[in-house]
Amino acid sequence: MTKIMKIPENLIIENKIEMIKETPAILEAANLLHQGEVVSFPTETVYGLGADAANAKAVKKIFKAKGRPQDNPLIVHITGEAQLKKIISSSLNQKVQKLVNAFWPGPLTIIFEKSGLIPDRTTAGLNTVAVRMPSHPVARALIEKTGLPLAAPSANISGAPSPTTAEHVFKDLKGLIPLIIDGGPSPVGVESTVIDVRGKEPQLLRPGGVPLEAIESIIGEKIDRTVKKTNKEKPISPGMKYRHYSPETPLFLIDMDNKNFEAILKDEYKKYHKIALVLTSEKVDKMKRILEKSANWTAEQINIVNIGSQFQVDVIASRLFKLLRQLDEEDYSLILVETIPEKGLGAAVMNRLHKASIQ
Ligand code: TXA
Ligand code: MG
Repeated sequence: MTKIMKIPENLIIENKIEMIKETPAILEAANLLHQGEVVSFPTETVYGLGADAANAKAVKKIFKAKGRPQDNPLIVHITGEAQLKKIISSSLNQKVQKLVNAFWPGPLTIIFEKSGLIPDRTTAGLNTVAVRMPSHPVARALIEKTGLPLAAPSANISGAPSPTTAEHVFKDLKGLIPLIIDGGPSPVGVESTVIDVRGKEPQLLRPGGVPLEAIESIIGEKIDRTVKKTNKEKPISPGMKYRHYSPETPLFLIDMDNKNFEAILKDEYKKYHKIALVLTSEKVDKMKRILEKSANWTAEQINIVNIGSQFQVDVIASRLFKLLRQLDEEDYSLILVETIPEKGLGAAVMNRLHKASIQ
């Protein structure tokens, strides 16, 4: 049985962490976590599936519930620098200190050398640990109440789009976990940026909720846009394709600024009988005019879905996973998504869409 317990919305809006700590949802969750159980909780990025990061048996339950490959390490969530010092073995270099001051609490995950408190199960055998301090008042209240560092991946079945509401978590993990704390929709909507600044050159491991441009201006250095892989991130067996963030319905990307856009649409996608075409607001009217004039398409065949203005990428990010899940529930044979510039949160949005489009 999976229970959903709601935190009153006004406590979240008013950031009343001390009061959130005493709600029945947090008390029950803290109890479960101390017993070595897993609990799903909201963060500002996406919903997480948490367990005591120092308890290998508890962490094992996360991998089991999600069906996550054992070689993919978890992020550890903390609330303060005192807690950080317990789980890492290195001191903070200048760059890390700047990043911590500028972006914590918030959607930035930083790689550190781990201390003996963190078992191999949490880091998938790596001697480093990924750490983030979430800003969501419910996540903060939960970590403070338990006093535990919480290992938490996104609370979806491995491979599916990440959950941004308690309902998404319920759909994926019902019957597999005891409790979901409902704190309303996650405002950022894409996962944290993961970065390693231990070496000379900063290494981007995943673009996310903190734009690279913001990180660059804080550390005063350019960051290579190529996403580096940890040696643990390979697909688990040769021939097994790496699926991630994927709806069941095939998803492809299309460049609406390409001059041959109409021909590409016709040649490559005509065979699909029902298409969801996800566009930025700026392209919706252009596409409607094309469809009206076109002899190739009927209105039933292509449904235009407006994801928001290309000038408000944060709004697009906040809607992305919810929209992918929603379209997947309707009977489309294809989801086609317009590419957007990889600037600001656009880099995280396009990274998730590229991964979702690998079938
Ligand atoms: O926003 C987020 O980060 C969310 C919320 C719940 O906090 N969590 C999340 O976790 O997205 P997950 O497990 O879905 O993604 C963790 C990412 C993976 O790409 C993993 O490979 C990387 O972080 N990672 C974790 N530990 C690492 C380490 N020690 N070295 C390199 N990469 C690591
Ligand atoms: Mg994930």
